Amino acid sequence: MRLNLAFLGFGNVGRSVARLMIDQSPALRRDYGIEWALTGIATRRSGWVADARGIDGESALVGPGWNAGAEKHPDAATWLAAAKADVMFEMSSLDTSAGEPALSNMCVALERGIHVVTANKGPIVFGYQKLRDLAASHNVSLRFESTVMDGAPIFSLFRQSLPLVRIERFEGILNSTSNMIIGEIEQGSTMVDAIARAQALGLAETDPAADVDGFDAAVKVAALVIVLMGTPIELAKIERQGIRDLNAADIRAARSAGTPYKLLCRAWRTEEGIHATVGPEKVDASSPFAQVNGTSSIVHFSTNMLPGLSIVEHEPTPLTTAYGMLVDFIDITRSMARS
Ligand SMILES: NC(=O)c1ccc[n+]([C@@H]2O[C@H](COP(=O)([O-])OP(=O)(O)OC[C@H]3O[C@@H](n4cnc5c(N)ncnc54)[C@H](OP(=O)(O)O)[C@@H]3O)[C@@H](O)[C@H]2O)c1
Repeated sequence: MRLNLAFLGFGNVGRSVARLMIDQSPALRRDYGIEWALTGIATRRSGWVADARGIDGESALVGPGWNAGAEKHPDAATWLAAAKADVMFEMSSLDTSAGEPALSNMCVALERGIHVVTANKGPIVFGYQKLRDLAASHNVSLRFESTVMDGAPIFSLFRQSLPLVRIERFEGILNSTSNMIIGEIEQGSTMVDAIARAQALGLAETDPAADVDGFDAAVKVAALVIVLMGTPIELAKIERQGIRDLNAADIRAARSAGTPYKLLCRAWRTEEGIHATVGPEKVDASSPFAQVNGTSSIVHFSTNMLPGLSIVEHEPTPLTTAYGMLVDFIDITRSMARS
């Protein structure tokens, strides 16, 4: 099977996916019979660049000049057509107000019979039902494992291994950047320096407010509620407080007392629907959440079948996110082979 891939977004995640795909090419060919070519890259600054003969991924990773001979296009539709894309990897920045323009671009791809893999939570929160229906009606796949907890299998776990399970509630630490920032402040850093370090490591969103004010965590809660609890929820309905207003001395005192601050996410079913919150809380030393430090994250599900199921992801890197997208891609090729 030979597939053309179009990358929308070529920042930390896009570049990590390119690196991983190139490194894993021999294994993809040998173990799965997959040949692939990168035929489109689009970013805000470089525009919609396509070359159906193939763009050299190594050159694109090195930097300037990679797109010298390639054609530029005015929009997603002409770009995807010029790239002769089979799969679009959507890895553009998170927009917490409407999931745009990623949502519209994903619709364009699905409507043209192009499979979509995304790491971007925005479109899932603002348009999951529409995207899912479009994918079904055009007989293509929509995959988004890396949107929550990077490469840890959450959506695929419930989709493939936990039939009939009803999630009653979940809680967790879902924003690794704020967890890392709290840890840095515990070690003596200021909030400003800790944010700068998270950005330098490629962890913080382009706009750090998304992490520090709890938007990223709230979007992840919404994605889990919408997809796994099967219930639409508006982002504005999630009670949200970030870590911005936490006082450094309080953070250090809480750690010294053995009850560290964590940005906790919660969602549970009530008579009126799903209630969801994001906010900083001091956790008891005996809580598993107290042991989740640095960029690690955790989610604990209470369900009708398995009373408690926790998933902990230890210290992910951009490669972990890329791995989640590679797994989605392999999964798509499996469904293509079956159909
Ligand atoms: N970083 C992580 O560890 C991680 C983990 C899980 C999920 N995610 C999600 O993955 C996505 C990408 O994250 P990232 O860390 O790679 O971000 P990033 O480094 O800021 O890269 C974003 C990329 O998207 C491009 N872009 C932004 N808006 C665009 C637009 N309107 N049209 C075309 N291209 C556009 C940017 O172009 P320019 O370079 O020209 O600005 C850049 O290439 C985000 O949605 C994020 O929430 C990230």
